[in-house]
Amino acid sequence: MSNNKLFLQTLNSQPSDKVPFWYMRQAGRYLPEYMERRKTAGSFLDLCYSPEFAVEVTLQPLRRYQMDAAILFSDILVVPQALGQHLEFRQGEGPVLTPVDTAEKLALLSMEGFHDHLAPVYETVKRLSTEIPETTTLIGFAGAPWTVATYMVQGHGSPDQAAARSMAFQREDVFERLINLLVTATSEYLIKQIHQGAEVIQLFDTWAGNLPDDQFRKWAIEPVRRIIENIRAVDKDIPVIGFPRGAGCRYPEYIRETGVSAVSIDTTMPLEYVRDNIQPLCPVQGNLDPLLLVAGGEALEKRVIEILDTLGNGPFIFNLGHGIVPQTPPENVARVSEIVKAYRKK
Ligand code: CP3
Repeated sequence: MSNNKLFLQTLNSQPSDKVPFWYMRQAGRYLPEYMERRKTAGSFLDLCYSPEFAVEVTLQPLRRYQMDAAILFSDILVVPQALGQHLEFRQGEGPVLTPVDTAEKLALLSMEGFHDHLAPVYETVKRLSTEIPETTTLIGFAGAPWTVATYMVQGHGSPDQAAARSMAFQREDVFERLINLLVTATSEYLIKQIHQGAEVIQLFDTWAGNLPDDQFRKWAIEPVRRIIENIRAVDKDIPVIGFPRGAGCRYPEYIRETGVSAVSIDTTMPLEYVRDNIQPLCPVQGNLDPLLLVAGGEALEKRVIEILDTLGNGPFIFNLGHGIVPQTPPENVARVSEIVKAYRKK
């Protein structure tokens, strides 16, 4: 393992005097150079499936802010698309899929052609592994099965994930088959990314917080545990960061049961609670509010210092508590990056 990478050192709980940083959704619409590229690439999905464009937009934020990690430019919904589900991204509307809400529709999905469909993503990972700076760590990712299933069943985003939650209660047998398919697909997808050069994996479970506790165990913990088991059978040391957004007091159980190497904590998690109850279990990543990054000014700087002072002395990766939003002024990202880079552990 390269030990000149601060990000990997921190994930392995090796001491260092600096705090590594990156931002969820660090490539995207808040950057004028992304918007420029996007104009010529066609749709957002065209961008995801063009290694040349995807490599370029992955590198864009690194040139500005020199983050310690680069995250593959793609989307969590390429997995259902590769399984045969229809997907498009509509302007101002987000993702639209043909809902998979019956056993019959589920039976139409399969692993046939899955890796062929995703070949351009694997090519992007391969190119990135040689094109990023040598002190930068390459993060591969996937959505966790629960979150991906919420979009697959409902056909679009929703504030309450009602369609998937209802299906899990009313047609548990069908829902379980969908989750099992996603466990297989996601494990294989991530193993390919690792073989092409991804050094760390992040699993995004954006909607984990909306599950009642027994359902949380069934649909947020168990599938992630199985994916990690599958990918560690191929690469026993691969670091995995879990992001069960909204898990609250269930973070410790999630860490113990899934086998994640680190967790990304959302904006709602109290810093002292995290320091005392989560950081002793594993390295932590987070958790600046993306809207404070939009607001800027003194309140932003004060909060960045507060986060660093509370969590920075344990194994810690500075990040947001959710993704960067399009209205973020790039100069605020620059300011926060400067503060984190200048910070030294006490
Ligand atoms: O972080 C990065 O820079 C890497 C790329 C990345 C994207 N999506 C690119 C993207 C990652 C890691 C994701 C994850 C993702 N995608 C999640 C989980 C994390 C989270 O934010 O909660 C989810 C739920 C999705 C699904 C998705 N993709 C939605 C709901 C939307 C529409 C909302 C929006 O922000 O537009 C997307 C689109 C999307 N994914 C964009 C980008 C850059 C915007 C597309 C555009 O250029 O128009």
